[in-house]
Amino acid sequence: MSPDPNLFSIIHDRRSMRQFLDKPVPEEVLEKILTAGFRAPFAAQLCSIVYTRDSKKIDTLRQLGAYPTTKVLMFFLVDLRRLEKIMKQRGHTYDFDDSYTLWLGLEDASLVAENVILAAEGLGLGSVLLGAAPYFVELLAEMFKIPKRVFPIVGLCLGYPDPAEHTEIRPRFPLEYSAYQDEYLDHSTADIEACMRVMDEGYLAQNYYVERNAKIPLAKGKDDIDYDTYSWCEHISRKFCQGGWAKYPFLEMLRLQGFDV
Ligand SMILES: Cc1cc2nc3c(=O)[nH]c(=O)nc-3n(C[C@H](O)[C@H](O)[C@H](O)COP(=O)(O)O)c2cc1C
Repeated sequence: MSPDPNLFSIIHDRRSMRQFLDKPVPEEVLEKILTAGFRAPFAAQLCSIVYTRDSKKIDTLRQLGAYPTTKVLMFFLVDLRRLEKIMKQRGHTYDFDDSYTLWLGLEDASLVAENVILAAEGLGLGSVLLGAAPYFVELLAEMFKIPKRVFPIVGLCLGYPDPAEHTEIRPRFPLEYSAYQDEYLDHSTADIEACMRVMDEGYLAQNYYVERNAKIPLAKGKDDIDYDTYSWCEHISRKFCQGGWAKYPFLEMLRLQGFDV
């Protein structure tokens, strides 16, 4: 197969899109995207997808972060139920460490999701993932009739991007601090500072948090960082320094769906 430079421009030009045109996504386009999604490598085909184009459902799902102009909203599911049915047909009973099957399912679902995202880009659509799906497992289970042994990993808003939305390519850590030949790099203070500089200066230059008014409040202590200096490293730190995000521990949500973890 010859190299395809178009693939590289799709990967490098992609950015999350959160505003979509009022233009439906045709059935055949969606089918093409979904088919490409499931061409991803798999461990055990443990991923299923549920999706809706129903604007009322999409509106209800704004509580988990769905953007109002989304045209298709999909959820990537870890699906142990289908595997167990196949095993039953073969006369076998599932007997495995659920945590590890879940791990494999997460891998399968993540790879399908990335394929869907890139396939959508390739067909001129834009998308953004929604990480809150697991926290809304009860609502999603009811809305989409998701049975036990099936768990929503992540959501995806899809549509034709609205050119009026101001977006930029977001920074990443420099490659040398993320990919290491032969030996893991245990980052020195200078390495960490180099990572932080790229991320903080990149987001500040794009006015990212000011434009979105997106500072995470501190539950305790005085917040003496204003928008001139508030950037990605402070933001990501605040996400992970104030306890969990769910009303009950994360594993409880998996147990609600019948996972033995
Ligand atoms: C697992 C996951 C969950 C995400 N959840 C959300 C979300 O709930 N809302 C949102 O606006 N963006 C969400 N994003 C998008 C990220 O904010 C975005 O990918 C990141 O800021 C990098 O920007 P880029 O995609 O434009 O390169 C999520 C991304 C991932 C991988």
